[in-house]
Amino acid sequence: MSAFEFPAPRVPDPADAPSLRWGIAGPGWIGERFTESLARHGSQRVTAVGSRSLGRAEAFAAPRGLRAHGSYESLAADPEVDVVYVAVPHTAHFEVALAALEAGKHVLVEKPFGINAAEAEKIAGAARARGLFAAEALWTVFLPSYDVARQLIREGRLGSLTAVMGDYGEYLPPSHRAHSPALAGGPLLDLGIYLIALATDILGEPDRVLGIGQALPNGVNGQLSAMLGFSGGAQATLATTMLGYTPAQLTVLGAEAAMTFDGPFNSPGGLTVRTADGESHRWDGAPGDHVAGLHSQAAAAARAIAAGQTEVAERPHEASILALRVADELRRQTGIVYPGE
Ligand SMILES: NC(=O)c1ccc[n+]([C@@H]2O[C@H](COP(=O)([O-])OP(=O)(O)OC[C@H]3O[C@@H](n4cnc5c(N)ncnc54)[C@H](OP(=O)(O)O)[C@@H]3O)[C@@H](O)[C@H]2O)c1
Repeated sequence: MSAFEFPAPRVPDPADAPSLRWGIAGPGWIGERFTESLARHGSQRVTAVGSRSLGRAEAFAAPRGLRAHGSYESLAADPEVDVVYVAVPHTAHFEVALAALEAGKHVLVEKPFGINAAEAEKIAGAARARGLFAAEALWTVFLPSYDVARQLIREGRLGSLTAVMGDYGEYLPPSHRAHSPALAGGPLLDLGIYLIALATDILGEPDRVLGIGQALPNGVNGQLSAMLGFSGGAQATLATTMLGYTPAQLTVLGAEAAMTFDGPFNSPGGLTVRTADGESHRWDGAPGDHVAGLHSQAAAAARAIAAGQTEVAERPHEASILALRVADELRRQTGIVYPGE
């Protein structure tokens, strides 16, 4: 069997990152996991939580010893918060991020950065204008496993790239906010955005975008398939659905080798490389859930903020905006319109 050497991940120890005080905007599903991840790993400290209801903020804050705020503006004004983690539904990212920036706070905004490229550009512009940090919390690109993959890709170890193929489906029940047109429902911004983000991180900006969508009776998109074409001939074929679970794998093909992320590809996990001779090679990254991985992005943000940067190298503003430009074009072709557009 031929040898294939994997590079070591270059992600620094999160325990060494400068310790910042975090305010959680949105005591929901991801807000809870992010708080738990920071409590278990690394050097970051959650000090406060904000909600539209003081009662809900207090219910989240009390068992964790946090300060509670009954509005997102009040959280943004808290002098014991350095950086606000925006963990509200997609449609509220823009307003909550802007309020925090206007109050002088740095922001780490859950994916997607905004509901469209225009919102993302405005968040980035507002941060830059104030000399504050803003980044999209696309946690995958901050994981050690993604750093290994990125090195293989950028160092040409797969050969010249020919394709990215990915799927991401989860069964999201009718009670989930993804079924609400008012909250920019559908799989695109919850699940598909990972596929678009990684395909464009790997292959760049497509010059052709083709989408096929299927609407549900409630008017929300249920599934969406996309083909992206790139100037050098590479292609991306991506499929996302909220109608059922898929293996959630992502494969990057090059002329010399193909690399597949273990599913779910957006979580901590291993990599398999199949070289042109047909041999399989493993990088056995430990599989993990959100609590095992969300702290990596917080440590990277803290390092960038301490260095006075307005964005972070792993997820620059332009990368977040590019992914949303592609999403916008897919929506234009498939008739998906979000509130306020
Ligand atoms: N990185 C990941 O793996 C990951 C996973 C899941 C979700 N996310 C992202 O995180 C964001 C939040 O998702 P989630 O699943 O955590 O959401 P969620 O639990 O449904 O809601 C989060 C919180 O948002 C607040 N909120 C503010 N404005 C709202 C509005 N207009 N309608 C409803 N709730 C509102 C609610 O708190 P109050 O009502 O108390 O104000 C709620 O607790 C989404 O943008 C999503 O894409 C990321």
